Order: sequence, then C-alpha cells, then structure tokens
Amino acid sequence: MPKLKIEGGNILTGDINISGSKNSAVALLPAVLLCKSTATIYKVPKIRDIEYLLKILEILNCKYEIKEDFITVDTTKLKNKEIPEELSEQMRASYYFMGTLLARFKRVSISFPGGCNIGARPIDLHIKGFEALGATVKIIKNKHIIEAKELKGARIYLDFASVGATINIMLAATHAKGQTIIENAAREPEIVNVASFLISMGSKITGAGTSTIIIEGTKELDYGITEVFPDRIEAATYVILGALTGKDLHIKGIIKDHINAVLIKLKDAGVPLEVKNDEIIVSKCKKVLPTKIFTQVYPGFPTDAQQPFTVLLTQAEGVSTITENIYESRFVSAGLLNVMGADTTSTGNVLRIKGKTKLKGASLYTPDLRGGAALVLAGLIAEGTTILDNISLILRGYEDIVDKLQKVGAKIELIE
Ligand code: EPZ
Repeated sequence: MPKLKIEGGNILTGDINISGSKNSAVALLPAVLLCKSTATIYKVPKIRDIEYLLKILEILNCKYEIKEDFITVDTTKLKNKEIPEELSEQMRASYYFMGTLLARFKRVSISFPGGCNIGARPIDLHIKGFEALGATVKIIKNKHIIEAKELKGARIYLDFASVGATINIMLAATHAKGQTIIENAAREPEIVNVASFLISMGSKITGAGTSTIIIEGTKELDYGITEVFPDRIEAATYVILGALTGKDLHIKGIIKDHINAVLIKLKDAGVPLEVKNDEIIVSKCKKVLPTKIFTQVYPGFPTDAQQPFTVLLTQAEGVSTITENIYESRFVSAGLLNVMGADTTSTGNVLRIKGKTKLKGASLYTPDLRGGAALVLAGLIAEGTTILDNISLILRGYEDIVDKLQKVGAKIELIE
C-alpha cells in the first residue's frame, strides 16, 4: 500500500487551485439517475469516491464519458439493481442512491453505507423522510430494502439539520405526488448545488440554502447540467496550511462565503488574510493566538475543518479549545498530533490544545479523511520526516494533493 513521505520545514509559496467539492460531487453523481436520458456535470474532482460512484453507475447500466472538465452520463438504459456491499461500503455517500432509485423505481436494495470512523453516523432521519413519503424500509442482514407503492408529498421536520438526510429526501421527493416541505433542512452549499442540478433537469424546488425547502413532485426529469461548487473544506485546509508555513500562498477558485466562519476564526487566531475575488492570499502567522472553536451546522464553523485547524492551534501561544458539536469522536487525529509533540487532551466533546509546541516527524496511521489532512499539515511544519500509512483515506477526498503541494514547494511524495 502506498504511503506519504513528508519532510517538514519548507516555506510554501505559489498557487493552489481548489477542485470541485467532494461532498457536492458525491451527491450529484447519484442524482443523475433522475434523468431519463443524459446529464452533464462540470468540475467533478478526480478522487477515489468518484471512481467508486462511477462503478455503481456502470452496474446500473449507465454509460459515462469523462472529458477534460466535465462528465456526461447516459441513463437511457438504466436498470434498477442491488448495489453490492463492496462498493456501497466504500463511502457514506452511497446512500444517495436510496433517494434517487426510490424516486425512479419505487424500490431500492442497497448494503449499508461506509464512511469515516468519526461517530455512529446513523441514517434514521433519511429513513424517517422516506417513510413520510410513503415508503417502507426494511433491514435484511446488512441491506436496506426500501419500497413504495407510490410516493406522496409530505411535511418532514428534521430533528437535526442533517446534510445527507436533507439531500436524500429532496432526491426522493422529486417524483412524489404533490408538495414536500423539508423543515429544519441543512443549509450547506452542497444542498444548493444539488438543488440547482435538480432544477436544471426540470424539478420545482425553492428554499435550498434555507431551513425550509419546498419540492413540487414532477413526472419526468432530464438533461440535467451543473457545475460542482469549489470544495470549501479543501480550501479551508490549504488556507490553514498557508497560515502555518506559507509565503503569499494563493488559494484560488474559492467561494469566500462558503468558508466565512473559518476565515473569521483564522482572523481571531491572528492570521493576516487577503481576500481577493475568488482567491485568498495567506502567509505564515508570526504569532498565533489561542482561540475557541465551536463546530456547528452551516453557516457555523464546519466540523470537517476542525481537525486541520487543530494543527494551527498547536502553534498558538496559550490554551485553545475545540468543542465538537456534530460528531461523537472526531479527536483521534489530535491524539496522533501528540505523538509528534503536540499537547492536546480531550474530555467528552471538548479538545484542549496547549501551545506553542514544536512538532517532530513521526510514522503514523491515517485515522480518517480530515484527520489525515491534519497529519499532512503537521508533517509539513514538523522537524524531520513524517511517514503516513493508510493514505487512501486522504486521496479519497483531496484531488491531486501531492502534486498541488509539490507545486508550492512542499517536500512530499508517495512511496511504496
Ligand atoms: C456530510 O455527512 C459530509 N459527508 C461530512 O463530511 C460532513 O462532516 C457532514 O455532512 C456535516 O457537514 C458527505 O457529504 C459525504 P450529517 P453526513 O447527516 O451527511 C447525525 C468529510 O470529511 N445524523 O449532517 O453524514 C450524524 O450521526 C465528511 O468530508 C443522525 O443522527 O452528515 C452526525 O452526528 C465527514 N441521523 C450529524 O448528524 C441521520 O439520519 C451530522 O450528520 C443523519 C445524521
């Protein structure tokens, strides 16, 4: 299995271009199944999760073409088949096939989804939504079997503003008879990205990006076309890297509003940032200030950025805290930073980070996607060499991470 070898200490300068958002793209690809014949998506990131989703589309008898900066999918011969475990367990986002296949065929058989080990991650809210639309959901062995004679519009309140449940219910509701209202819906940009795709294929959706989304069921959808939004978490990761060891590092092709909370907290931490249209210019922060972070649903501070941000806080003079309000166990990577010399302790959902600590290279095992990204950042500022194992977890969410970092002067390479 390949590993990442990182030599710390280089100052990074130049341009990093942000790719299409993993968390948008993994919902947009299953959504193409709502189209009768074809769909086109621009700026799909070339990452492992997308490879798996394309394999699932092939199993469902779809044909796709990957062009320079877009993918077209031909769904004319779409067949409803069971989605095998070896693919559905590769990522959490395989569950979006529930919403689309239920809408198209009124029947889905799919093995349990996978996903990073950061908490229990149940899908009770998705199932509550499908049942509200008239489906029955059974669990047989490790499969969900979801069926409906017909789907009727309903008023669905989400106890938690779940991103996945909001998107999955929106997908299923596109073909439900009448009106569906999702209340306490998630407001993440991914929701808007998916809704604009559905609208392009003829769906009638209003309120995406707010807490109340209204979907008018339609008979037929086709010719969907959209562009994947820039990856806000990839952007946040590289802006934080610039604050750690950049010199006029340009993070390009971002939508600033999508990472507003992260930029505000970076400013609180004393990081000077220059925001110009769709790029951020950031340099190493001379004096990082201790900061309190509370992860929230959008537009609050994103949980996916707390692990990379932890690395910055190890360099703050004083004690910082991160309160993780979205997942039950997202501090494993902080424990690994301690192996490199950081001083973090977690009590319940609060991580305490005592800085400033000098980090030293180490050989570590990547625990999850964003934790892996945090270890890459730590390796880039640590003294000596860091070797990361199990890096498929990183490659599944950061397009061309080695190439992008090498281009700005990082000493990082894939080794066997
Ligand atoms: C999406 O996961 C993202 N993944 C996650 O990113 C991200 O952390 C999360 O949204 C929050 O922004 C993808 O989009 C593929 P949720 P999702 O449903 O949809 C609980 C990354 O690093 N919950 O908003 O699974 C759940 O357990 C990944 O890119 C229920 O209890 O997130 C969690 O504690 C990690 N029941 C919280 O809500 C449900 O039915 C947030 O989940 C659904 C969720």
